Amino acid sequence: MVQSKFRRLGMLLFSLSLVMLFVTIPSVQANSEEEDDQDDGVEVVAHRGAAGYAPENTIAAFEKAVDMDSDYIELDVQMSKDGQLVVIHDTTVDRTTDGTGKVGDLTYDALRELDAGSWFAPEFKGEHLPTLGEVLDEFRGKTKFLIELKAPSLYPGIEEKVAKALEARDMDDPEDDSVIVQSFDFNSMKMFNELNDDVPVGVLTWKSEDLTPEALEAFTEYADYVNPSKSKVDRELVNQIHDLDMGIMPWTVRAQEDVQPLMDAGVDGIITDYPDYVPEQSEEDED
Ligand code: G3P
Ligand code: CA
Repeated sequence: MVQSKFRRLGMLLFSLSLVMLFVTIPSVQANSEEEDDQDDGVEVVAHRGAAGYAPENTIAAFEKAVDMDSDYIELDVQMSKDGQLVVIHDTTVDRTTDGTGKVGDLTYDALRELDAGSWFAPEFKGEHLPTLGEVLDEFRGKTKFLIELKAPSLYPGIEEKVAKALEARDMDDPEDDSVIVQSFDFNSMKMFNELNDDVPVGVLTWKSEDLTPEALEAFTEYADYVNPSKSKVDRELVNQIHDLDMGIMPWTVRAQEDVQPLMDAGVDGIITDYPDYVPEQSEEDED
């Protein structure tokens, strides 16, 4: 009698735990889906390579970015006097090399002689200014590319040269946005899009006037990404850009505390000198 009472109690407890299990599983799943949605694979874009850890726009900086599992490397492209596509941010070589002068006034051979590493730290002595082709050849298959045309109005024909560099490597119809070309110069991006509308294009801006509903609508004619200064980003802007079927990757994160607000706003990528500031994504997100 006492035994059967215990058995009944046991059955009751067992049934109750089963009910609890079925009630809990969907709510755990829903929570984790919610978290997935929030993080939804934000792309880590290593700005000028991992520029916080190695001299910007050098092979060392891009290697560091890849070692840190960045999804993209961001690089700035300009043109030498003799028409080579070179990777450097400023329009002069003064800040990031041991030389002086304008990039466009120097031949590729002269640019190649410059030391682009020592200014950052002695152990990087001997890093040189890479060409776009060199970076594409070295890092394709290892990461994705966010290529900025820097001051393209100084270099007539640079859009065509970049389009040809991609075409020569069969990278002119990239899958999964593995190559994106961007610029602050909207005319240059329109031009690039006319040359090749298979490569996604981004527009860069820090100006509020470029982020009005009308301005955003106008970008849809040729752009796939609107990449503003991080100070301009909130959930409303992200939603507006997403509603127009474009992506948004703000710049430039140099402080850990700037990451989470951007992720909460729902951005698609974060452009940062410090790729390790962006929390690791789950493998599911990365797929
Ligand atoms: O990719 C965005 C960012 O690179 C734009 O600013 O001056 O670093 O080229 P800047
Ligand atoms: Ca840049």
